[in-house]
Amino acid sequence: MCGIIGYIGHRRALPLLLNGLKRLEYRGYDSAGIAVPHGHGLYIAKRAGTVAQLAAMVDSLDLPATMGIGHTRWATHGEPSDRNAHPHTDASRRIAIVHNGIIENYATLKAKLQQDGYTFHSDTDTEVLAVFIGALYEQYGDLELAVRAALSEVRGTFGLVVLSADHPDILIAARRGSPIVIGIGDGEYIVASDATAIVEYTRSVFYLTDDEMALLTRSGCQTKTIDDIPTSAQLLELEFDLERIEKGGFPHFMLKEIHEQPQTFWDACRGRLLALEGNIKLGGLRSVEDTLRRARRLILTGCGTSWHAALVGEYWIEELARIPVEVEYASEFRYRNPVLSSDDIVIAISQSGETADTLAAVREAKLRGATVLGIVNVVGSSIARETHAGVYIHAGPEIGVASTKAFTSQLVVLMLLALYLGRMRHLSATQAREIAEEMLRLPDKMRSILERSQSIHSIACQYAHAQHFLYLGRGVNFPIALEGALKMKEISYIHAEGYPAAEMKHGPIALIDENMPVVIIAPRDELYEKVLSNMEEIRARRGQIIAIANDNDPDIARHATHVIPIPETLPLLTPFLTVLPLQLLAYYAAVERGCNVDMPRHLAKSVTVE
Ligand code: F6R
Repeated sequence: MCGIIGYIGHRRALPLLLNGLKRLEYRGYDSAGIAVPHGHGLYIAKRAGTVAQLAAMVDSLDLPATMGIGHTRWATHGEPSDRNAHPHTDASRRIAIVHNGIIENYATLKAKLQQDGYTFHSDTDTEVLAVFIGALYEQYGDLELAVRAALSEVRGTFGLVVLSADHPDILIAARRGSPIVIGIGDGEYIVASDATAIVEYTRSVFYLTDDEMALLTRSGCQTKTIDDIPTSAQLLELEFDLERIEKGGFPHFMLKEIHEQPQTFWDACRGRLLALEGNIKLGGLRSVEDTLRRARRLILTGCGTSWHAALVGEYWIEELARIPVEVEYASEFRYRNPVLSSDDIVIAISQSGETADTLAAVREAKLRGATVLGIVNVVGSSIARETHAGVYIHAGPEIGVASTKAFTSQLVVLMLLALYLGRMRHLSATQAREIAEEMLRLPDKMRSILERSQSIHSIACQYAHAQHFLYLGRGVNFPIALEGALKMKEISYIHAEGYPAAEMKHGPIALIDENMPVVIIAPRDELYEKVLSNMEEIRARRGQIIAIANDNDPDIARHATHVIPIPETLPLLTPFLTVLPLQLLAYYAAVERGCNVDMPRHLAKSVTVE
């Protein structure tokens, strides 16, 4: 989603703001802007386009300001254009704001302000909020009071920072539903929508909670609710360093993150997988251990790639723990009037921990009395804070918009959870040990696939100009087929569909001809023979088959146009290996097509609006 940066301290603000915006670019954006105090007023520069284009506009200016705000926008209200870019100002142009989220009652507020004679210069809801704050400031003569009064009347979501030419010694930040993190330096504060913009300046941070605001000056910080009740900030140490948010020699973040997976797999297991004992330790679930022991049903929810991880989790938990599992899109769950009771356990899966639909599902499930757990990457994020308990996946910052390493780390935690729940029930230590020991071998097996990525590159180049792709898989690899198709469409813009292989003859087979590449996941497991039959059906219709198969499979080459070999593992664990070639296939196809892999069109890293 959009990116926010704010600074107050002793350094020149402009370079820091531009650097912060560059760090936030991965979240997806179409325009950018900054505002700093200058002379007796504000200097504002904003435009549609890239942060580099904005930097070229302002780089040569000698702006001595030591505070300011900046924004990268991903259009929701109004097309991407110079006038719709943030910061937006009030009527006097002395108050500027940057805002993430949506002001739902902007139309009513705007009509009221227009009746009072105010005019507007953009199509955005943010300008309405800026003008509203300015109107209240005229009335009260007190900036903090004006911000609080405006925010109490606003419906919707916001993460915002306010700057005023009349008060060049204070920044005001506030949040409802859209993250704001504040870094504490020596006599300085950095405000951002995401810790990646802060980590090179300080590791000491706190997150605002909903309806909380911070008043930041060079000498200190005060936090309170929007209703003026003092609060106390909970300080956190950021666990990642600058290296994790830089490309480290790879041409794209996505490729770097694909290659990090043997390590992030291990990071998600560390201290949790007690292979020798055949046991699992999940400290984050200790407080709900008894509830988990009694659990009669689990509901897993999430969006996009996280929803695919949930589908794999369903197979694993049902198989190893014999607990019925339902998987539901968070966006459907929240509006469906779900039947839930205090015996139910809802598990929200989210890389960012900020996805609006998943957060709303968490709140809905809590309201109905369920125990709600989180499987989250971003420490301190909204879902991590609002769930009763949970497990972090520890994948480190994921910058590429298309999720890769977070997916495999979500899978690790879901497998650990399945083993943990299984061990509470009938799963023997010997059975758990067999899986745990094989999990320890997986990072090396993942590495061996990545080392052979050259052959995947050449297959991707051969099919990069296809119009459509079909992905088929069975059992635990059916969700991997969905994930492979999602990766392909989101970064290469090739239309791709994922199906359970046996469903092909119920419709999609009509699409197959010599122009249709079909990716089939065919590890040697109990459904292998059936998948071979599907391959024959495709060959008979001259479809081009790219098979993901075991490297010791002597037969597969006879059935497929191309074979991407993967090492053998336990059938249940194959998703950790089968997904890697699919990520690489999508990556190389997108690069071949000249697509912007790390920032695909229309997509944002974290979807904090509905
Ligand atoms: C796809 C992708 C998205 C996210 C989805 C949920 O590559 O990244 O489909 O998985 O937007 O995001 P999180 O996991 O942050 O809740």
